[in-house]
Amino acid sequence: MLRRSFVLGSVLAALMSGGAVAQDVVKIGLILPMTGPFASTGRQIEAAVKLYMAQHGTTAGGKKIELIVKDDTGVADVTRRLAQELVVNDKVTFLAGFGLTPTALATAPIATQAKVPQIVMAAGTSVITERSPFIVRTSFTLPQNTLPIADWAVRNGLKKVVTLVSDFGPGLDAEKTFTEVFTKGGGTVPEKLRVPLRNPDFAPFLQRAADAKPDALFVFVPSGAGSAVMKQFAERGLDKAGITLIGPGDVTDDDILNDMGDVALGTITSMHYSAAHNSPENKTYVAAFRKATNGMRPNFMSVGGWDGMHLIYQALAKTGGNTDGTALVNAMKGMQWMSPRGPISIDPETRDIVQNVYVRKVERVDGELYNVEFATFEAVRDPGKEKK
Ligand code: DHB
Repeated sequence: MLRRSFVLGSVLAALMSGGAVAQDVVKIGLILPMTGPFASTGRQIEAAVKLYMAQHGTTAGGKKIELIVKDDTGVADVTRRLAQELVVNDKVTFLAGFGLTPTALATAPIATQAKVPQIVMAAGTSVITERSPFIVRTSFTLPQNTLPIADWAVRNGLKKVVTLVSDFGPGLDAEKTFTEVFTKGGGTVPEKLRVPLRNPDFAPFLQRAADAKPDALFVFVPSGAGSAVMKQFAERGLDKAGITLIGPGDVTDDDILNDMGDVALGTITSMHYSAAHNSPENKTYVAAFRKATNGMRPNFMSVGGWDGMHLIYQALAKTGGNTDGTALVNAMKGMQWMSPRGPISIDPETRDIVQNVYVRKVERVDGELYNVEFATFEAVRDPGKEKK
């Protein structure tokens, strides 16, 4: 009887003060491109985040987790406004998402000023984590994902490779890493082609690449754009001319790979995630993801969302529900766990992800196209930072 009235009393007190109740809710502002040319990134990450919450419940560190999803259409000015509103009006504890590099960069000053952890789940330009001490990344970096394919090109005796990249942060990172490693290994890069990020027409660039008669064409395009490249690659006859398509694995994105057709067969890429990754954790993940999404195949963006949620839940558990931004970022530093992609950790110095990068070949498996992994570079740190 005594205990009961005590409990009732506390509930009443909490209800009356209002603030006490509010403090028990932790809000995550998830900003993603849900519409526009990069919507597949938003769709994949949102699905993974919601799956994580469905499987792990909606409390962490004793706090109730509330997710607020905002569509920035992939435009940085919109991201900046949404991030500001989420911090000022909704009083979010975490900012998360960021489908493109410019959207992550636009938010960095807000994270710093508000002392709100910014979890980058997609964008991959090396420099992003240096723009705010509150940024922690669960996606990948382009130098990290490019290094193994550049090494593969050297080891497999390729002599001449043309590069073709989307003309923005991650593309320039990919071009730089590939060129450095490949030329150091004795190769030449006769042409470095850059295509606009928005509304790209790949045809004239692929024609120039074909004219240079390289052993391979190195391609970086953002998630979702690979189909157009692959189509033009075949239409211009680059495959028939014996030119191998190589690159970081964005171009053979699992979200669209199966619809590319036979032209994609034999493409060699390196990447941190494949839906075909052979581990019990990944088999469970792919099956649950498909079930929750009416059959969608998870891609490399999805695991950034999945692991970003794990990072948030574990950080809250470690702080015992303390929502101080500095305490949460400190809790994230050095954290390690098993992801569907393999073992990963957060570098305590750079707050960037350390992960395996796999070299893969597109093959037909049980009637579907997959990136089949055949070699592993273990625990790769972002090489973009090590040179500084
Ligand atoms: C970025 C976006 C992508 O879609 C991708 O595949 C890699 C990097 C970016 O903007 O950083």
